Amino acid sequence: MQSVTTQIYDDILVILVNNPPVNALSWHVRQGLKDGVAEGLSDDAVKAIILRCDGATFIAGADITEFTQAPKEPDLFSTLDAMEKASKPIIAAIHGTALGGGLETALCCHYRIAVPSAKLGVPEVKLGLLPGAGGTQRLPRLVGVEAAATMCAGGEPVPAAKALQMGLIDRMAGETSLADEALAFAREMIAAGPRATRDLPVKGDAAAIEGVKAAGARKWAGFEAPYANLACVEAATRLPFDEGIAFERSEFMKLMMGSQSAAQRHIFFAERQAAKIDGLPKDLPLRDIQKVGVIGAGTMGGGISMNFLAKGIPVTIVEMTPENLDRGTGVIRKNYEASAAKGRFTGEQVEGMMGLLTPTLSMDDLADCDLVIEAVYESMEVKKEVFGKLDAICKPGAILASNTSFLDIDEIAAATTRPQDVLGMHFFSPANVMKLLEVVRGEKTADDALATAMAIGKKIGKVAVVAGVCDGFIGNRMLKPRQLEANKLLLEGATPQQIDKVHTDFGMPMGPFQMSDLAGVDIGWHRDEGRIENIRDALCAKGRWGQKTGKGFYDYDDQRRPTPSTEVATIIEEFRSTSNMQKREISDQEIIERTLYPMVNEGYLILEEGKAQRASDIDVVWIYGYGWPVYRGGPMFWGNLEGKGKIAEALERHGFAVAASLKAKA
Ligand code: 3HC
Repeated sequence: MQSVTTQIYDDILVILVNNPPVNALSWHVRQGLKDGVAEGLSDDAVKAIILRCDGATFIAGADITEFTQAPKEPDLFSTLDAMEKASKPIIAAIHGTALGGGLETALCCHYRIAVPSAKLGVPEVKLGLLPGAGGTQRLPRLVGVEAAATMCAGGEPVPAAKALQMGLIDRMAGETSLADEALAFAREMIAAGPRATRDLPVKGDAAAIEGVKAAGARKWAGFEAPYANLACVEAATRLPFDEGIAFERSEFMKLMMGSQSAAQRHIFFAERQAAKIDGLPKDLPLRDIQKVGVIGAGTMGGGISMNFLAKGIPVTIVEMTPENLDRGTGVIRKNYEASAAKGRFTGEQVEGMMGLLTPTLSMDDLADCDLVIEAVYESMEVKKEVFGKLDAICKPGAILASNTSFLDIDEIAAATTRPQDVLGMHFFSPANVMKLLEVVRGEKTADDALATAMAIGKKIGKVAVVAGVCDGFIGNRMLKPRQLEANKLLLEGATPQQIDKVHTDFGMPMGPFQMSDLAGVDIGWHRDEGRIENIRDALCAKGRWGQKTGKGFYDYDDQRRPTPSTEVATIIEEFRSTSNMQKREISDQEIIERTLYPMVNEGYLILEEGKAQRASDIDVVWIYGYGWPVYRGGPMFWGNLEGKGKIAEALERHGFAVAASLKAKA
């Protein structure tokens, strides 16, 4: 495997890595680096060595696919050791992303030069790991304790300009002249000789780590890796280099063997896998999307439009009345301006995005759109009428998408003469923030329409997942058994706060009743019918519609802080006695078995019915759409860890119909 080559330029040896797609440090790259350095050191004519990469990027990390395989020689440590201890200066010439083991390789070079667009970072924490090739010990020596702690525990890469300020790189090259400037820089450094990062003193002291810890506390709740990263940086402040490395190694191995990193690595690959549509060639020609139409300027329509405008794609937005149109476009502007106030956009960018928005009261103005997304009221009748009109107005080949969260896409498609162009694009609220996009494939949806919707999803920064037509698609369908069971548990003796706490302790951002209060307890409640058949109806009849009315399953103060409600407790008591139920103690374990296990069960049913392409897609839906804790890897990954047999047994004990594939022996 020839992924590393060398070239001599008079007195300089260039080691060139070419290991697409991201120049990861696979075993053959490590071998090539070792050989390249040995070649440079043994040739007296060579005075300095450059490490550079072909393709889109510098080395973007260790090869994650090797983590689950038997170790292969040479190991990264001995490779990097040979570089850092080399007697001739080695210069890393960086473009693209120098990440993880890639940056650690650059840290073992003696000097670094980068192009302005380069980014440098140690994102291992996002894989539940820490930089395991000396990064936690070398960074404090090069950029200082505080910056090292921030980089390691936060995982965000820094742009080249900041890297230069921090001392992470020594020189900035022109965007297109890296190869030449690296040669010149290398010649300049011949006289200076090698400068090993390990020999530099640590800058700053451990006190700085406390501030980083405090700033990250909220975001890192439940995660192990950020704290292990900080512990390693702290170790650098008190241990000699080699002992620090030994500590880093043992912490790295602990994380690597743990379930959190396994879950986070699973999600890394699951997210990338989700973009792939089984059975379709990668190079299937896509439809050209230059202009997008959005019907409805409410919360969803407005949020959806913002995604496209932010990527420079013009949007025509349609409403029924001038008031709604003005209000909708006003909210879009306000949201952008709020982001600008936080420094995310300039005022000029806000005007640029707003300039791409065409508000209109006429659906006829959608005639030149390549993709139209309907985000109107969730009623089949209304949707069919809208799609009938779109069929008459839109140009041939335009993709007609519905943002419905549960309705039958095939029935909607049947309202047109072009069902091949119809599909679902289910965004999650707030649509400009939430990363998940369920792309719903109808029975007659054309392959290229589906692939185009997936690609445009990626373009606007979403993680897109293919779902089949069924009630609630993947995400909301799995929510249903959870909510049903949570409601039953209330009657049997659990409180909303107990059930919610089990979920938040598990790592969910909120429990089923907190979610109900946020979304609106009254969703789907028919006030005119006046029926009070369950606890939810009773809450609605008393105006307890959730956070928006200041009370739902909880009471809320003016800052929306929840407290348990005596009124709700009384309502639950009343229903319990009319249902002739005896109150009993419910254990937290039972809540898990009856609210989380049924979700896993539903996931297996979804797979059996072919409504999701693969189990990992279901995990991606729950991580990016509902805040399932990434360190638990999604419901299907978690279900496997928990044990299929154990889940099936518990579900049967609680009287559930268990999916055949869940019952099947693994
Ligand atoms: N190892 C193996 N495969 C990798 C990889 C890695 N480190 N990084 C990316 N890939 C693969 C992806 O799985 C994908 O494969 P596919 O085409 O078969 O789906 C392909 O490379 C392209 O990846 P992306 O779709 O993510 O490409 P982008 O251009 O959008 O992004 C990137 C490129 C920014 C480099 C992004 O891939 C990324 O963030 N990679 C991970 C970086 C990382 O976490 N590095 C640290 C690794 S752990 C480590 O180094 C441990 C060390 O400290 C000892």
